[in-house]
Amino acid sequence: MREQIIDARRKALIFPTKDLAIAHAAMDLIEFIEKTPHVPISIALSGGSTPKAIYQKIVSLNSHFKIPWEKIAFFWGDERLVPLSHPDSNYFMAKSTGLLGFGSSAYPMWQPDHTADQLALLYNHLLDKILHGRPIDYLMAGVGEDGHTLSLFPQAPMQVAGRVMRAEDHLHPHPRLTLTLPYAQKATKTVVYLFGSAKAPITAQILGKKPLPHLPAWHLGTEEQPALFLLDEESAKMLSL
Ligand code: 6PG
Repeated sequence: MREQIIDARRKALIFPTKDLAIAHAAMDLIEFIEKTPHVPISIALSGGSTPKAIYQKIVSLNSHFKIPWEKIAFFWGDERLVPLSHPDSNYFMAKSTGLLGFGSSAYPMWQPDHTADQLALLYNHLLDKILHGRPIDYLMAGVGEDGHTLSLFPQAPMQVAGRVMRAEDHLHPHPRLTLTLPYAQKATKTVVYLFGSAKAPITAQILGKKPLPHLPAWHLGTEEQPALFLLDEESAKMLSL
């Protein structure tokens, strides 16, 4: 594994294979949970195949560790506004891996008969009520090949007030909700996952020397709350480090 300090707000760990990177991602969360004293430990889940593989790994490791699931509150970093049983639901995806089945609390973004803006308002209040104004403890962020993260897409407004907003996106099906960038940046720990050769171009852009503020994933990590980028050699192969 190679470690690379990108800048004051971002560090990368580069693993020989995707499987090793996924294993490290799972262990990083388990270790974070074990050393976090307060309750609840808030974890914001993302959608996508990369986060899904990490959830599956955590589930596979559950019998090897005494994970205090009752201390954990799962939230979502973003969601497609479809029923919780819909195959495109990020809640459905996490549930299908078994991750939600060990006694943790889980707070889905979607509920029926509400507009996206109403759901954003409700989730904003829920975060405030459950976390008493504290930021998310652990944000798990996948990144799309276009540089989106959560459901913050390149054309979306990024410097907005509040914790949750309706995602502005015309390329992807379903209306979505997403944590706002300023709120996501407050997370105590942010881990960003970029694995595989298809992510090599966007990885080189996001972690390259040229500032690319039009890409939401470029904004992950601040000097106050640096972000950890987990890569494999495939996704890192175009990086000029
Ligand atoms: C979503 C996700 C999204 C995802 C990335 C990476 O709801 O679509 O939150 O941000 O994490 O698109 O997805 P892959 O890992 O499948 O490339």
